[in-house]
Amino acid sequence: MRAIDMLLDRVSVSALQDPAPDGATLDRILEAGLRAPDHGKLRPWRFVLVRGDARFVLADIVVRALQAREPDCTAPMADKQRSKFTRAPLVIALGVQVLENHKIPELEQIMSGAAATMNLLNAIHAEGFGAIWVTGANAYDPSVGAALGFTRPDRLIGFLFVGTRSDTQDGPPRVANRPALSDHVIDWSGPASAP
Ligand SMILES: Cc1cc2nc3c(=O)[nH]c(=O)nc-3n(C[C@H](O)[C@H](O)[C@H](O)COP(=O)(O)O)c2cc1C
Repeated sequence: MRAIDMLLDRVSVSALQDPAPDGATLDRILEAGLRAPDHGKLRPWRFVLVRGDARFVLADIVVRALQAREPDCTAPMADKQRSKFTRAPLVIALGVQVLENHKIPELEQIMSGAAATMNLLNAIHAEGFGAIWVTGANAYDPSVGAALGFTRPDRLIGFLFVGTRSDTQDGPPRVANRPALSDHVIDWSGPASAP
């Protein structure tokens, strides 16, 4: 497949099953993450691989954080969160090591982390696997970040749930449903109010 078709073809996949990429395939995917643009060559990207039983350890940490945030959390709510972190065979926690008071603004350091994540998503797709990027309250909970090695100023910018598309759960392969170019692109020729 041509690279451009691969980019146009990618969709997020939330219903995931074994296997996840591993070995040389996973290394290629992670190398693609390291090809993200990076102002100042700060190399801020940190990818934490959570696999096997470690997913259950992380799921417990997430549930404890949820219960601390929401003391009225019910058992089904806790189970829902736990299953998110244990269903996919591979979870990649996405971190950015942030340098404070640096000439490269923190926003640019975090944007480089987002660019790396997008490269990972495209590489996962190119290797024939599926993934989805999620954040939510768990990703922004300081206790979850700290357990994964990210305390301020470093940031946990989300999780990639990675595996093989589960057609039984997700129906037939999805096609990308994308907005119209005309809603997002203009040919700029000066400020609207310019004479
Ligand atoms: C920074 C970021 C955080 C996201 N967090 C969530 C999330 O917590 N839960 C969710 O269902 N989708 C989340 N999404 C959206 C999905 O990753 C995905 O983009 C969306 O389901 C659309 O699918 P598509 O990539 O095929 O267009 C997030 C996207 C981004 C960029």
